[in-house]
Amino acid sequence: MYTSPEILSSLKKVEETRAERFKHKDEIPRMSAAEKDDILKAYHPDYKSEGFENLKVGVNKGDKVPHELAAYLQAHSRIKDVKLDLEKPDYDVDVLIIGGGGAGASAAIEAHAAGANVMVVTKLRMGDANSMMAEGGIQAADKPNDSPAIHYIDVMGGGHFANKPELVYKLVTEAPDAISWLENLGVEFDKDEKGNMITTHGGGTSRKRMHACKDYSGAEIMRTLRDEVLNRGIPVVDFTAAIEIIKDEEGKAAGAVLLNMETKDLLIARAKTVVIATGGAGRMHYQGFPTSNHYGATADCLVLGYRAGAKLLYPDTLQYHPTGAAFPEQILGALVTEKVRSLGAQLVNRDGVAYIHPLETRDVNASGIIRECSTRDEGVDTGNGKAVWLDTPMIEMIGGEGTIMKRIPAMYRMFAKYDIDIRKVPILVYPTLHYQNGGLEITPDGMTTKVKNLFVAGEAVGGIHGRNRLMGNSLLDIIVFGRNAGKESAKAAKTAKLGKLTLSHVAEFENELAAAGVTTELVSPKLLPNYTKQKDI
Ligand code: FUM
Repeated sequence: MYTSPEILSSLKKVEETRAERFKHKDEIPRMSAAEKDDILKAYHPDYKSEGFENLKVGVNKGDKVPHELAAYLQAHSRIKDVKLDLEKPDYDVDVLIIGGGGAGASAAIEAHAAGANVMVVTKLRMGDANSMMAEGGIQAADKPNDSPAIHYIDVMGGGHFANKPELVYKLVTEAPDAISWLENLGVEFDKDEKGNMITTHGGGTSRKRMHACKDYSGAEIMRTLRDEVLNRGIPVVDFTAAIEIIKDEEGKAAGAVLLNMETKDLLIARAKTVVIATGGAGRMHYQGFPTSNHYGATADCLVLGYRAGAKLLYPDTLQYHPTGAAFPEQILGALVTEKVRSLGAQLVNRDGVAYIHPLETRDVNASGIIRECSTRDEGVDTGNGKAVWLDTPMIEMIGGEGTIMKRIPAMYRMFAKYDIDIRKVPILVYPTLHYQNGGLEITPDGMTTKVKNLFVAGEAVGGIHGRNRLMGNSLLDIIVFGRNAGKESAKAAKTAKLGKLTLSHVAEFENELAAAGVTTELVSPKLLPNYTKQKDI
């Protein structure tokens, strides 16, 4: 519960202004394009040049990436001084899928359905992934007042038109089928009494197309996908991380070196095709931000792909979700779903002013909060930094009593543990590192542009969302591009002829590091975050 005098005095102002704000809730202006540009340039962390450096080695040499990522992209291989016998693989499959989240599971299901001998390796357990933690929903233009064309325009606008058009086309045109596929597998979407899907807006959407399973959307989808993987009998090797991509002598992806996370044994997986689906990078804590991400989100995909010669697209663009929990400290950075704003909660500053439209795109709203809490000095001191209010009681004023328990019970429970009843009092929020907009560059068949037979799906991909993703397009992309990678990798495996396996690219990368004068003790991929005071090597 709130006890500090500063929080209580601001809370009083929020309560005093609520009725008036409610009356004028539809009058909050939207920002013009020029205003958005200005606020982003002034406040968004992607524009803070001191947070970035240029890569010295690899395909993206000269490109800008966050310091924390540069350190791991330019670190030593975990097998630098190890001799491995690639001729005696521990596993030999058609399709090797690295990652046990929604994209990996979708790929595994489709590759298996196409008749491939497929195996999933995951450094934690199946479903220990950002997919499981997604809350608000999944977009698809499947209502009569909507269309994939309108969805396309929203995605491109939200991404500042930096998106790869052919990937966006795939995302939006295959979205309605993704929903049907999930429903047929058993996902229980929210429906009204007539059986129609309940859909809401997200930031930057011009139609209500967010399908949801309350605010457990990712958990429900992941539960269903995991069941399907297990029901099909697809082998899942858990607590086993991929630490290098193996190639064949022609430079095609041909497997991976695996590390048993418990025994530290190294294993060799040979595969005709490989799918990287290891998710995001929130646990890199770029620019010191807290994160909403899963414990395993340590940019492994970027390191694995980069060292194998794949190209990164927009590695300098991250998504800071505007509403990370800012109080109490125990849940700092945890996701407060955008759906809270879709249902009517306003963003309100220390003086009780609704200073911005709650459904501006995420990058704009994150910048707006940073502005209130910095130059405008309109943030509330939480005892652990500044924050703004998210006025949750408005949801019940708009949707009627019971809306919160019906539509966002996870949010209610998260705060109730700390004696904060979000039906009655607002909550304190500040941006949290949520998503990597950039990733490995692919063509529409899901294959990397530089390494043959190396496929990528999910958050590991760059270019789908341009420089800013809209809510609900991540759960969508893990399904669309996960399924796609599964089908295409199985197809490619049918004709793939593997030459002699090699890790010469790893040695070459080490030589490049030395030639560029990079000196470091770090090894990568990082695999797990280090919250101890011990040195990270
Ligand atoms: O706010 C949210 O529920 C997050 C959704 C997303 O990142 O797509």
